Amino acid sequence: ADLSTLTTFGVPARAQWLCNIDQEDQLPVALQQADQKDLPVTLLGGGSNLLLLADVPGLVVRMRLLGIRHRPDPLDDDAVLVTAAAGENWHQLVQHCLQHGWHGLENLALIPGSVGAAPVQNIGAYGVELADKLESLRYFDTRTVQVKELDNDACQFAYRDSIFKRALKDTAIILSCTFRLSRTPRAVVTYPALLQHPGASADMSPQQVFDAVCAIRRSKLPAPAVVGNAGSFFRNPVVSAQAFASLQQQWPQIPHFATATTDVKIPAAWLIDQAGWKGVRRGTVGVHDQQALVLVNHGGGNGQQILALAREIMNSVQQKFNVRLQPEVCLIPAPAGGL
Ligand code: EPU
Repeated sequence: ADLSTLTTFGVPARAQWLCNIDQEDQLPVALQQADQKDLPVTLLGGGSNLLLLADVPGLVVRMRLLGIRHRPDPLDDDAVLVTAAAGENWHQLVQHCLQHGWHGLENLALIPGSVGAAPVQNIGAYGVELADKLESLRYFDTRTVQVKELDNDACQFAYRDSIFKRALKDTAIILSCTFRLSRTPRAVVTYPALLQHPGASADMSPQQVFDAVCAIRRSKLPAPAVVGNAGSFFRNPVVSAQAFASLQQQWPQIPHFATATTDVKIPAAWLIDQAGWKGVRRGTVGVHDQQALVLVNHGGGNGQQILALAREIMNSVQQKFNVRLQPEVCLIPAPAGGL
């Protein structure tokens, strides 16, 4: 089956087998069949955070579970618990909640991808991350063949990280997520780019925050429908206070964000930009000219070409700043010899 239209990078690749999951009870059947034939299973959501490097052996399971429900919290008049199925489009969920007056997800507008993929990397943008709003989630455990539930703490959320990238990697298939939202609007206007947006203020309405985030994202992130990409290709590196101090000595203007520890987060976009990569093209692939963290497929590029470019960028940033970048997108199949 052709996968080229199922990922936002739009690179050519095929799956040995592809099956669509439209109902939860189809999942154990599909997995059992894969198991009997000894086929590896790869999960596909919105396809917006992965790069296909080659054809995918085994079974690709495409999550398409739909539905959004809500209920009040009997203990908290202000709270609404909104449950969305894994196949729902993330941005449509954000819009749906905004329209119903359930607040809290506005800052996460326009992030591509599906609800089920969102907890895996703990999506975040403009001062809010999924971990701030997720109450619990349900997943299918492929080892025990059971549906299980995790509360927020048990998901072990961190910056672009969760238990689904660690202990539950490759064994959990997220079925639905429940968010704790608020009927009272509370604008989060802390992130620099949002603060600097015309009209930004602490008493912005949720609609205004939503509009501002959409405007900022549209101005620097390429629309996947126009040019293939998967958002930020690398994670923002987190370095020790000591390493940061020496970087700051050499580059006093280096932007940075505090973390929960003494470690410091540095925008990979700045490092890549300073190393001269913004707007660089290598044939049909390249670095976006408005945001150096985004690698793009101008049309006709493949996964190996994008990987080669990513490696060149990683080496160049390592040489200039002695900082090792790590990809934020998933590479499928895992590249031989790592990165
Ligand atoms: N910058 C440059 N050159 C550029 C782009 C940015 O020097 O080409 C500098 C900016 O001036 C700023 C800093 O880098 O000082 C940060 O840039 P920006 O605010 O655009 O955010 P980012 O670090 O590039 C992160 C997330 C995005 C998220 C934004 C907003 C990661 C890996 N990326 O990007 O998430 O939308 O913050 O919160 O954490 C994604 O994960 O796919 C993604 C797009």
